[in-house]
Formats: sequence, C-alpha cells, structure tokens
Amino acid sequence: MVSGVSAPVKVANETGTVVAMPSPAATSIHVDGVSMCYPLAKKKQRTVLENISLEIEDGEFVVLLGETGCGKSTLLRMILGQERPTSGKVYVSGKAVERVDARSGYVPQKYSLFPDRTVLDNLTMGPETSKYHILGRLMPGFRSFRKQVRKEAMRQLEHMGLRPTDAGKYPHQLSGGMQQRVAIAQALMMKNRVLLMDEAFSALDPATRASLQRLLKTVWNESKPTIVFVTHNTAEALYLGTRLIVLARSSHEDHCGSKVALDMKLPGNEAGMSLKKNGQEFLDLVDYVERFSRGNRHDDQALDESAVDGEEEAV
Ligand SMILES: Nc1ncnc2c1ncn2[C@@H]1O[C@H](COP(=O)(O)OP(=O)(O)OP(=O)(O)O)[C@@H](O)[C@H]1O
Ligand SMILES: [Mg+2]
Repeated sequence: MVSGVSAPVKVANETGTVVAMPSPAATSIHVDGVSMCYPLAKKKQRTVLENISLEIEDGEFVVLLGETGCGKSTLLRMILGQERPTSGKVYVSGKAVERVDARSGYVPQKYSLFPDRTVLDNLTMGPETSKYHILGRLMPGFRSFRKQVRKEAMRQLEHMGLRPTDAGKYPHQLSGGMQQRVAIAQALMMKNRVLLMDEAFSALDPATRASLQRLLKTVWNESKPTIVFVTHNTAEALYLGTRLIVLARSSHEDHCGSKVALDMKLPGNEAGMSLKKNGQEFLDLVDYVERFSRGNRHDDQALDESAVDGEEEAV
C-alpha cells in the first residue's frame, strides 16, 4: 500500500462493485446502475459503460481517469443531461437528470465561449437568460439585476487573473489559456454546486496548465463545489483531486463496457500531491493508478517498486 493515501474504497471484480453509501443529504451526484450502449452496423451494439454506480458527496473533487474511448466524456455528458443512459439513472442533488441540467456547470476542453460575444457578454448571458426571458427584460427590475450581474462578472474576471480591459474583447482576441479562464468564470457565474470539466486544461501549454490547476484548486478550497474533472494526466489528477476514479474495460469485446476499476480517496489537501513534494510516494501512486487505467490489474497486490520508471512529469 502506498503510504499517506487511504486504501481504495472499492475495486471492481467480476461480480461488480460495492459502494459505500453516504447519507442522502450529503450526496451531490448519484449515478445509479448506469449503462450506455451505442448501435453498430448490422443490429449490433457496443457497450461503452456497464452498470456504473457512484455516490459523489457534496464538495468532493473527483478526478476521472481511463484510457481513451473508455467512456469518461460519455459519463460526464450523462451527469450533465446531454445524453440519456441506455439503462440506469443519474441524480443531481437528489433529482433525476432528464435533460441538460442548469444545476451543473460544464467546461469542455475548448471552444465553449460564444465567438460573437464579448467576454463580458459571455459571462453575463447565463445568469441573465436564466432569470429573465426576452420580454422580462423590459421589466423595471432588470436594469439593476443586470448591473449586479456585470459587477459579479468583473469580479470573476479579476479572480481568474484577467484584466478589466479583457471584458470588452472577443474570444478570438484571447490566448487559449485566457479563454479557459473565461470559461471557468462563465461556469462559476451560475453559482452551481456541481462543476463538470472534460479535459479542460489538456489543450494548454504546461505553464498555463499549471497556473490554471492552481487557480482551480483555489476556487475549490474557497467554496468547495462538487467537481468531476476528466483528465488523461495522472499527475494532474493527484494534484487536484480528493478522490480518484478510474474507468476501464476488462475486455475489448463489444458487449463489455467500462466499469469502475479503481475508486480511492486522495489526501486532497490544499497543496495537493506532486513529485516535488511527495517524491517516491507520488511515483508509486502514479504507477499504481496507471496499471488500473490499462485494465491489466484487478487485484490488490503490493506494488512492484521496480516497475517505477521515474519519468512521470510533475504537475
Ligand atoms: N454518439 C455516439 N455514437 C456512437 N458511439 C459513440 C458516441 N459517443 C461516444 N461513442 C463511443 O463511445 C466510446 C466512449 O467515448 P468517450 O468519448 O466517452 O470516451 P473518452 O473516455 O472520453 O475518450 P477520450 O479520452 O478519447 O476523450 C468511444 O468508443 C466512442 O466512439
Ligand atoms: Mg473524452
């Protein structure tokens, strides 16, 4: 066992997984026996996710890992309500998710801003349209509401390290890193308790990525939203998360979907785990997690320390 990190709370086996149930009041996201199949040619179908059950508590920072094509984005889209599972159900704050759910903020890898609107309009549009429909904007309260929303948008911009002058710019006038800062600010404007992020930093250069990781950690430390963050980068996952979930398929047969292969608590402290701070323990953990990602290890044997190659990049 890797020291300083709690044991996996559940590991998949051929009979499925057992989930420790928190009290309903503390549950933010409940994924209940969800499977997802996509049709293939000749009336065949491919199972992408197979009977996934998860209880995510309010304020958890869940990092979701797994090989490409294992269904991470599909699971995120189901929590958002963009896709309906073939079977099973998803609940957010106790309510079934039936369609795109305004209670969840969503930050994709890139291109989430409206290109023909300024940064300020991108930030204010969500709160304005959710509270006032087009005719409602003629009502007397709208002007003061709008002023308030604009003030909050400027505050969020500053919080994200952007300048007031950036408010009037269009997305194409910003770098990729700045656009992602605006996208995070856009999601935070809605004051959602749930934030879903799909490889939100993977298109960025390492320095920008590191600064956004620190920023997100600060945001989480301040208001403890529930975050589900999809990444391919194990080091990023260990730095950010309070809980790490790996999806993996046990076989590449079409009828075998991904299951939860590893679900473990992380220290989740303000500093996060990194090679610099945690040294060999960090490398051991990266190796341990990546074996599950590859789907080639489903037991709980002691780690083979000789397998650590030491080449994993720090966050
Ligand atoms: N609308 C769809 N119709 C058919 N197949 C789909 C659809 N959406 C996803 N898939 C398939 O489901 C599988 C899982 O896709 P998904 O995008 O969720 O994987 P992922 O884990 O996010 O991968 P990556 O790490 O590359 O982003 C893939 O094989 C993909 O081709
Ligand atoms: Mg994906």
